[in-house]
Amino acid sequence: MEGIYVLKFGGNAIRGKEDLMRLSNEIAQIIRDGAKIILVHGGGPEISAEMEKRGMQPKKVGGVRVTDAEGLEVAEIVLQRLNNDVVKCLEEASVKAIGSAGSVFTVCRKKAPYTVLEDGKEITVDLGLVGEVSEVNTESLEDLLNAGVTPVIYPIGADAEGHKLNVNADTMAAGIAAGIRCKELITITDVPGILMDVNDPGSKINKLTLAEVDELIKKGVISGGMIPKVEACRNALNAGVQTVRMVNGKDKRSIVTDLMKNVPHGTIIMK
Ligand SMILES: Nc1ncnc2c1ncn2[C@@H]1O[C@H](COP(=O)(O)OP(=O)(O)OP(=O)(O)O)[C@@H](O)[C@H]1O
Ligand SMILES: [Mg+2]
Repeated sequence: MEGIYVLKFGGNAIRGKEDLMRLSNEIAQIIRDGAKIILVHGGGPEISAEMEKRGMQPKKVGGVRVTDAEGLEVAEIVLQRLNNDVVKCLEEASVKAIGSAGSVFTVCRKKAPYTVLEDGKEITVDLGLVGEVSEVNTESLEDLLNAGVTPVIYPIGADAEGHKLNVNADTMAAGIAAGIRCKELITITDVPGILMDVNDPGSKINKLTLAEVDELIKKGVISGGMIPKVEACRNALNAGVQTVRMVNGKDKRSIVTDLMKNVPHGTIIMK
């Protein structure tokens, strides 16, 4: 197995030591088989919980967190803590890992207000201190990978002037995937893939084109956190990433090992 894979997982998909160790052991095996991994993680539920603890109101529009200065601070603290946990688990699984903010490897820009379709309706969104990736320092990532080190990235970015920005983890992962033109971007989430009915895990769609994705957003079938995920996938595909896939982090059999062996798994999105 060869090539660079960008893996992204969310806070609901991989939660707690047991989940993290399971994923870490799979990653260790994949690296032994010859692949290189860049790991990006989110922390949605943990950030919301910490905000609520501090009497703040978590707010998401179109599946992305609206962020002010205070929210950014909370997101950073929580993501740093999670990042430490991830690095520790990888090291326990004998993976050489280094944790860092997305700002170390990317330049981001503040996302301009935009319109999205939510539940079939068009809404204008101003997310505040939320960024998207505009540049990736592929050289420093490649240097780490070639030295046998797995970068573990949490999605706090910064603009060219060094102002910190909160970035949706899927957006960060896809931005990095696009910059480095990885072989595959795999997002590990808490559902088996894209579902025709969110409440029916059996309604998974195995393969989708970007045009079909647009239709499903219009119909309101794809909503919430799945919207930034598919938009991120679109960016990665348009930038030349060969394959983009969504898989279930709760899968008992294998999260990512199976698909490295070409066992069909999750939802694949194609141009
Ligand atoms: N058609 C759909 N198929 C599957 N999931 C969908 C669909 N529409 C909306 N969703 C929602 O998208 C969610 C996944 O996105 P979410 O942002 O919550 O998690 P994540 O991105 O994995 O984690 P994090 O945001 O912490 O990085 C699912 O749990 C589901 O509720
Ligand atoms: Mg999400």
